[in-house]
Amino acid sequence: MRKKLIAGNWKMNGSLAANEALVAALRAGMGNAQCLVAVCVPAPYLAQVQQLVAGSAIDLGAQDVSQHESGAFTGEFSAGMLRDFGVRYCLVGHSERRQYHSETDVVVATKAQRALAAGITPIVCVGETLAEREAGRTEEVVKRQMAAVIHANGHCISEIVVAYEPVWAIGTGKTATPEQAQQVHAVLRSQLHAATEQAERMLILYGGSMNAANASQLLGQADIDGGLIGGASLKAPDFLTIIAAAG
Ligand code: 13P
Repeated sequence: MRKKLIAGNWKMNGSLAANEALVAALRAGMGNAQCLVAVCVPAPYLAQVQQLVAGSAIDLGAQDVSQHESGAFTGEFSAGMLRDFGVRYCLVGHSERRQYHSETDVVVATKAQRALAAGITPIVCVGETLAEREAGRTEEVVKRQMAAVIHANGHCISEIVVAYEPVWAIGTGKTATPEQAQQVHAVLRSQLHAATEQAERMLILYGGSMNAANASQLLGQADIDGGLIGGASLKAPDFLTIIAAAG
């Protein structure tokens, strides 16, 4: 039985005061959560949130990492630097990075490699746009995105977490139905089976307008092993409801 992971992606939101209040409310409300819990915070707040989550069951995550190890890359930060702040997870290839920062499948795969080499679990995001879904290309797109990461990471592939995030469901209030999500998750799992004997224990998260109301249905699907939550992760009661739904 896979232990589920509920990861919040705060995106570019928060402040010192807001982060403190949010983490305090999560700590107070979490009880004995049965699932893994993480918050992926903006880089400037890593040091603050590392302190805030210390001694709790909440793990620290980052939202991106450089594809380079070190050097003249102004504005970037390396996997080793993230490690210095106790980062356990790092999102790579979020659709907002692919779209607004032109990250290619190869760049995403290299970032996953950097994270793994530093002992950080990359949460590799894949997902189709609305146009791609309407053209019947969903499977082809997510398999292509996944194949690049499998190719670059060899046998280490079993150490990653995958997040299926249909682009049309992100921040739109439109959620994939549990059946639509499960179908893609099953495709991804079978692709992983072809790459590693460990595919059955790997986590495949769903992301895209997951909220307090729809979480339990999505999380009830056979191949949905958790959630990557944007908007609803900024509201402690909603995030706590999702954590509870993960059982
Ligand atoms: P929303 O939950 O706001 O749709 O965002 C999903 C997401 O992009 C998480 O990475």
